[in-house]
Amino acid sequence: MKEEQLRDLLNSMSLKEKVFQLVQIPGQYFLSGVADTGTKTDGRPTDEELALVGSTLGIFGAKTTADIQMQHLKRHPHHIPLLFMHDVVHGLRTAFPIPLALGASFSPELVKQCSAAAAAESAASGLHVTFAPMLDLVRDPRWGRVMESFGEDPFLNAKLGKASVEGFRGCDGKMPEKGRVASCIKHFAAYGAAEAGRDYTGADLGGRQLREFYLPAYREALNAGADMVMSSFNAIDGIPATGNEELLRSTLREAWGFEGVLISDWNSVGELATRGVCSDLRQAAKLAMHCGVDIDMCSFAYARHLEALVREGEITEAQLDSAVFRVLELKNRLKLFEDPLRGVTPAGEERTILSPVSRALARKAVCECSVLLKNTGKQPLLPIAPERKTAFIGPYVDSKELHGAWAVSTDPEDTVSIRQAAEEFARVQGRQFIFSKGCRMTCREDLGPKSEESAVMAFREDAFPPQIEISDDPMLKEAVAAAESAETVVACLGEHRLMSGEGASRGELTLPEDQLKLLRSLQLANRNIVSVIFTGRPLDLREVCALSRSVLLVWMPGTEGGNGILDLLTGSAEPGGRLSMSMPYCLGQVPVYYNHFNTGRPKAENTKIPYYVSAYIDIPNSPLFPFGYGLGYTDFSVSGFELGAEKAELRNAAEAGPVTVRAMVKNIGPRCGQTVVQLYMRRPSAEALTPVKELKAFQKLALDPGEERELVFTLGSDAFCHVSADGSLHADKGTYRFTVGLNSESEDWKSLELL
Ligand code: BGC
Repeated sequence: MKEEQLRDLLNSMSLKEKVFQLVQIPGQYFLSGVADTGTKTDGRPTDEELALVGSTLGIFGAKTTADIQMQHLKRHPHHIPLLFMHDVVHGLRTAFPIPLALGASFSPELVKQCSAAAAAESAASGLHVTFAPMLDLVRDPRWGRVMESFGEDPFLNAKLGKASVEGFRGCDGKMPEKGRVASCIKHFAAYGAAEAGRDYTGADLGGRQLREFYLPAYREALNAGADMVMSSFNAIDGIPATGNEELLRSTLREAWGFEGVLISDWNSVGELATRGVCSDLRQAAKLAMHCGVDIDMCSFAYARHLEALVREGEITEAQLDSAVFRVLELKNRLKLFEDPLRGVTPAGEERTILSPVSRALARKAVCECSVLLKNTGKQPLLPIAPERKTAFIGPYVDSKELHGAWAVSTDPEDTVSIRQAAEEFARVQGRQFIFSKGCRMTCREDLGPKSEESAVMAFREDAFPPQIEISDDPMLKEAVAAAESAETVVACLGEHRLMSGEGASRGELTLPEDQLKLLRSLQLANRNIVSVIFTGRPLDLREVCALSRSVLLVWMPGTEGGNGILDLLTGSAEPGGRLSMSMPYCLGQVPVYYNHFNTGRPKAENTKIPYYVSAYIDIPNSPLFPFGYGLGYTDFSVSGFELGAEKAELRNAAEAGPVTVRAMVKNIGPRCGQTVVQLYMRRPSAEALTPVKELKAFQKLALDPGEERELVFTLGSDAFCHVSADGSLHADKGTYRFTVGLNSESEDWKSLELL
């Protein structure tokens, strides 16, 4: 539709019709006989309102969406199509590893491919918009939603966010490509800075922190063409994001020029009243609208109050029209006026969902994202030598719940468990494995694995586990016997899938106690333990590392989890992941992240007595494993690191750089493998604190044994600049220091003077 036609359409709509384009309701309302879910909404919509609604969320499926769309077109007075939105965060039916795992791949290409595959399944199922990627910078593993983020680094977050947006929507600036979906980035802004890791709390951030560390990833994603933005639940410096004029109007709309659709998070308009910044739902609707929130997701504040607010002059009709026009424009960009079903058919859906290509990509992604944390000994246990008699033990051996949170449309039946993959491998190779469960996933698992309530209770009660002796517990006895009879034990352990995700903050970061007890017993029976750890967040893995010779972190690996893990264990692939978040030494250390500010009293390497310096007296300052860390099945060296110049002239911020940084990387181990070379920078002294180091470039590369390659990083002005309070770019003069290495603990510094 041409722009004038769209304007004519807008002008022909009644006030009520306009308002309802801004109302989003749960999909259940379109499916007969299904009850309301989620947080409180103000009653069900009437049939008349239902016919006017602009968008819905949470329903998909070619036939379901087509039926609803066709009926809606008939009932809507102007035949305006509905938008179908959904959380396709790391896959629709094919679940890819969780985003925190994808962050560990350090591979924009892989992230783009996974998002594109997820988009293909989504588009084929009749969806138009995905609420992804989530670009919240995260530093506190107590927060359950770290699993949805690409991790603790602003640079990595921005690069992978851009790749994800391009994967979801394609690279055609104006409209999402055919077979793709529009991308709604979230949660704007700084939702990841949840206080004490508790969900839905505030972010007590200064403006500088927000600008320099939290906002860049959202900005980069918008530059990559993201179609929508979702405002977050949290407050920033006391002002809830959904009612935050400075954030939404001054920054997003005015300074960044965002012209797309801004949607609230679920009931976050209503929560403006609950949080006490508005007296009631009407005031909440007024404030959100005033701040530029176009669509009200599920609070009914707009549905119940916007019409009156416009009639009574508290919101101008022009303000309303701009919001409605943005929604109509999105529908138009998706070509819904011409083709309301976007060519979707059940046959096309069937071909696309869980296709062999998506499954193969998901399997590869497991290998690219898994992080080998430990693999010690003269003859490391991994990869497992073919002749070794191997037992797979633990609650994750048979589990098909490998998706983690926010894989709401997946079916565990599609998942390949470790046991299935191992049995298939054994069949093809003519080998035999031993399998044993050993213990329950959590101490109340027997209440029913599908019952969310029981699972939640289960890990809460882990703090007080029942005291069971080995002699009393047949499951444990069987596992110990299996360990005794094997040469290598693969202990498959981890968080229950409901232990991370929205609302799943944790106050402990250890494995469920039953599982630790199992591991202790196994280690007494057999010292050759490989622990395979499933988790949605960094954990305190001290004990696991102490009891295991090898530790492989597989996060929540998704539909092809079992196959990918077998590829890694048997050495047909190698772990390509490097930590996207620091693994804390223990709970008392969090939040711990590599890019922290310096202190006036840093702890020196040789500090013996840690008093009156910035340190703990009982634990180290460093995490157990730092950001960027991960091993492979071969070794690499980095040498010959040099800067292209020792001095450079700063004419203006936009021209800072280019500076080249070179290093030689060599595979010095026995087999081909891949590594991630990382370049960190330290800014010069300036008026404000700067991080001790910041990632500025990285490259993942594969080399044959003995092969050496020169890497050249070219740093442009964005590496040197930061955003000042007035929004302009600023680069400080002075000494910049650089280090290149294989994780964030690299300390081989070289300097460049910016004059
Ligand atoms: C979450 C969002 C999500 C929305 C819709 C909210 O509870 O915070 O991330 O997109 O629900 O499902």
